[in-house]
Amino acid sequence: MDKQFLADEAKKLTINSKGILAIDESTGTCGGRFEKLGVENTEENRRKYREMLVTAPNIEKYLGGFILVPETALQKTTDGKMFTEVLTEKGISIGINAYTGYSVFNEVGGLKEQVTEGLADLPERMAKYKSEGAVFSKWREQVQISDNLPTEAFLVEGAKRLTEYAKICQANNVVPIIEPEILIDGNHTLEKCYEVTVHNLNILFTTLKDADIYLPGAILKPSMVIAGKECATQATVEEVAEWTLKALKENVPADIGGIVFLSGGQTEEQATDHLRAMHKMDTNLPWPLSFSYGRAIQYPALKIWASNMENVALAQAALLQMAENNSNANEGK
Ligand code: 13P
Repeated sequence: MDKQFLADEAKKLTINSKGILAIDESTGTCGGRFEKLGVENTEENRRKYREMLVTAPNIEKYLGGFILVPETALQKTTDGKMFTEVLTEKGISIGINAYTGYSVFNEVGGLKEQVTEGLADLPERMAKYKSEGAVFSKWREQVQISDNLPTEAFLVEGAKRLTEYAKICQANNVVPIIEPEILIDGNHTLEKCYEVTVHNLNILFTTLKDADIYLPGAILKPSMVIAGKECATQATVEEVAEWTLKALKENVPADIGGIVFLSGGQTEEQATDHLRAMHKMDTNLPWPLSFSYGRAIQYPALKIWASNMENVALAQAALLQMAENNSNANEGK
């Protein structure tokens, strides 16, 4: 493990108010989004859509990294240039999503807790991703809140898997993005989300430390502390910012390489407003704090592109605007 390289790459990813764009939806998730907008989920349509994203002019002003699925990392533009080459020429770091799917861990009160799969052959795949240009990677464990969930056993298993993944990344000199997502689905309160977030972060960082994961060469990708979508009482922007910062400041070691949020089903406006409020609230945070949104940056561009695939320039302008809004939010603007 080259610690200096890992720490430098982690820093580069969040420097100058830049964020990371997640375009690593699985074929199934991508298909779900395409179908709602009348686009057929073929490999060629996924390639065309992602070509529009990857080649967006000036996107490097606001984004330091793109997270790809393995399929995208091997695709080319219509002119025959590898997407990874296009990104590298813009100075954008390449990340490749490392997990292969989910499986049922247990079932409580009719709800299933699902763990993330893909560890068995990960050492070989990570070495391959590295050779394809990856400087960072991503692994997501998703935690549901309900009357009976999450279970302690599930949180422990999720932390173990994130840690094992991070170890494999760092052994290959790839920066791990460690993503413990608390899902926004459900009617739980903001206080409940805070409680689960804090408990999960504690289990996670104890497990990472016990395994000697090099924190300056790793990035945490958390969800914000927010009430469930079905909760009757929704918090204000300032409350979400305040509780999220409290959870992170009290539980994330100061030497982590950076923290980048997922948007997790928030609207584009919410995701940007919450990030801006956090930066306004505290200008002296212990770690770089940025974004690694998927939906909250892509969706306006996807809608334009899906309505007419020839509308590439218009879709790219929408993408650029969303990336700029979030980069400005990182400066409290
Ligand atoms: P969203 O911002 O759409 O939640 O996507 C980010 C991500 O990478 C989820 O795994």
